[in-house]
Amino acid sequence: MNSSEVPVLTDAELKLLQALVYQECGMHFDERRTHFLQDRLQRRLRECQLDSFYSYYRLLISEEGKYELSRLLENLTVNETSFFRNKAQLDLFQREVLEGILRHKQDRRDYSLRIWSAGCSTGQEPYTLAMLVADSMAYYYMRNPLPFEAPLPKPLVPAPWRVEILASDISYSVLRAAQEGIYTEHQMSGVDYGYRLRYFDKVGDRYAVKKAVKELVHFDFHNLKTEYLPQRNDIIFCRNVMMYFDEAEQKRLVEKFYRCLNPHGYLFVGHAESLLGLTEKFQMVHQHSGTAYQRVEVKV
Ligand SMILES: C[S@@+](CC[C@H](N)C(=O)[O-])C[C@H]1O[C@@H](n2cnc3c(N)ncnc32)[C@H](O)[C@@H]1O
Repeated sequence: MNSSEVPVLTDAELKLLQALVYQECGMHFDERRTHFLQDRLQRRLRECQLDSFYSYYRLLISEEGKYELSRLLENLTVNETSFFRNKAQLDLFQREVLEGILRHKQDRRDYSLRIWSAGCSTGQEPYTLAMLVADSMAYYYMRNPLPFEAPLPKPLVPAPWRVEILASDISYSVLRAAQEGIYTEHQMSGVDYGYRLRYFDKVGDRYAVKKAVKELVHFDFHNLKTEYLPQRNDIIFCRNVMMYFDEAEQKRLVEKFYRCLNPHGYLFVGHAESLLGLTEKFQMVHQHSGTAYQRVEVKV
């Protein structure tokens, strides 16, 4: 095949590939997004130098096609993200949700906090959460001092607290960038001077997330389509991910998130997303113009 020639994608082949993508990662390509899917499939086919989309499909479902399948899924994801995205919602997270959880946990002498950023893309969301948690902890202990002196320099998280922010994605390339934690001036546009000074080092013309912040965040691969997802979270952020799933898949995911949360835990979804009509197991919390969903506990 000449490299400029691209075989025709028949309706039957498109349906097969659409179904495979849906089955593998939950992403649903309706008529509005079929063009995008076709374009990405053509690119991958050219790269693999195959002569038909049916051969490409056969490759994807074979044992040796596992790597190509992950390459295709990476090519289909939308990775747009930013630091401090949806400020009103983050205010609700910091001022109400986190403050309440810290108080409640301290009363019970439970000093562990676990937050999961599901679909974290290049890391701006989990690092934003880490900075907000560090600030909240400092402010909380300014008002409620610990009965002993903290060692100097003060750690971001005072003992005996253990904070874990798990950040996951289906794309290995975004996870690599997130783990590196180095951002351009353009990517830093939502980060004000105070945060830049405290939580970043300047490296050439870019900004690197400080080691102490990185230590709070743990990156891992998780496909939200699978059943085995991280458990025992106090808070889950899954923003701007569900919008690429159809309603059936959204319902399944929200059900899984319910099980992945601790009792009374919180779920934050994107600005254009909502749990309305998907579940009765969460109640909406709306304050400071931000929205979150809290797990409803069944009384026995
Ligand atoms: C638009 S970004 C959102 C990033 C961030 N949560 C935010 O709101 O700024 C969506 C991310 O979800 C990831 N994603 C899509 N489908 C996924 C799946 N089935 N499992 C895990 N991550 C997925 C994509 O790779 C992408 O990085």
